[in-house]
Amino acid sequence: MAFHLPERPRRLRQSPVHRALHQETQLRSSDLIYPMFLVEEQNLREPIESLPGQERFSVDRLPEKIEELLELGIGCINLFGSSSSKSPLAEAATDPEGVVPRALRMLKERYPALSLQTDIALDPYTDHGHDGVMINGQVDNDATLDVLQRMALCHAEAGADWVAPSDMMDGRVGAIRHFLDINGHSRVCILSYTAKYASCFYGPFRGALESASLDGLGDKLTYQMDPANRREALREARLDIAEGADALMVKPAGYYLDVLRDLREMSDLPLAAYQVSGEYAMIVSAAAAGWLPREAAILESLTAIKRAGADMILTYFAPEAATLLSKDA
Ligand code: PBG
Repeated sequence: MAFHLPERPRRLRQSPVHRALHQETQLRSSDLIYPMFLVEEQNLREPIESLPGQERFSVDRLPEKIEELLELGIGCINLFGSSSSKSPLAEAATDPEGVVPRALRMLKERYPALSLQTDIALDPYTDHGHDGVMINGQVDNDATLDVLQRMALCHAEAGADWVAPSDMMDGRVGAIRHFLDINGHSRVCILSYTAKYASCFYGPFRGALESASLDGLGDKLTYQMDPANRREALREARLDIAEGADALMVKPAGYYLDVLRDLREMSDLPLAAYQVSGEYAMIVSAAAAGWLPREAAILESLTAIKRAGADMILTYFAPEAATLLSKDA
């Protein structure tokens, strides 16, 4: 039996060459940004229990991993700090001798080609674990902006190429842009966490950061977005663009592909997506249980994020994905 069909999509799928010729999305190791966690100690490289396969590094041990990343073609890292001196007003966030500025100075000197991003938020430095300062029991927006400005400047002075505010305070992109510019750092890019949702998928990260534990997820709901909202992301994007963001980010990534697509369509800025700790943990644990093929799941999840509109992807899988991509090529 033979039918005449006017269209046969399978015709284009008949061989690897056919398939490659019309493949629409290619993931590259240069799309990937690797989030890394710093600790204050010396000579330390320790596994993070809640993120199997990920480690915390002391500044002096960081180069071991950086060499590996550069060899794999990963050109950008995102640094998360920590501090043992947590306080209500997060003074440690602006300390030029903190782990992040120390790492920046060392990395800028040793690896001038590596692009350095830093997380801008107060949660590793506050004793209550919130991303902002608390005044009269509330996370105070404008008091936080003042600290974020000084934190961003502190990182810029130490060599950051990008600052990435993840705190979701109103007006922080404009406040940081203004403060960097008047202090001579117009070169430093702002990667804004534009649509950062109050997500349960950050659970393993909070363990990694050793941020003070928040009782329940309700805590960040006064600044992070409701996972039920899509239109609100457009509003956040409009504000970030007007305030001078260089790139917009959606976070988490895999469950928010519609939001990523919306931002792709409304803006001509580069877009980033953050495949967060919970998304990482699900693939790692399902693969360990034998329920998912690890390598295929990593590449499919990242390709889907890129297909939805991301130009760059922050992911704990960055080194592993880059290794897989280099095998494919
Ligand atoms: C907080 C911050 C969080 C993440 C990055 N920055 C957690 C939170 O908002 O509580 C999550 C990253 C991840 O889960 O991988 N400034």
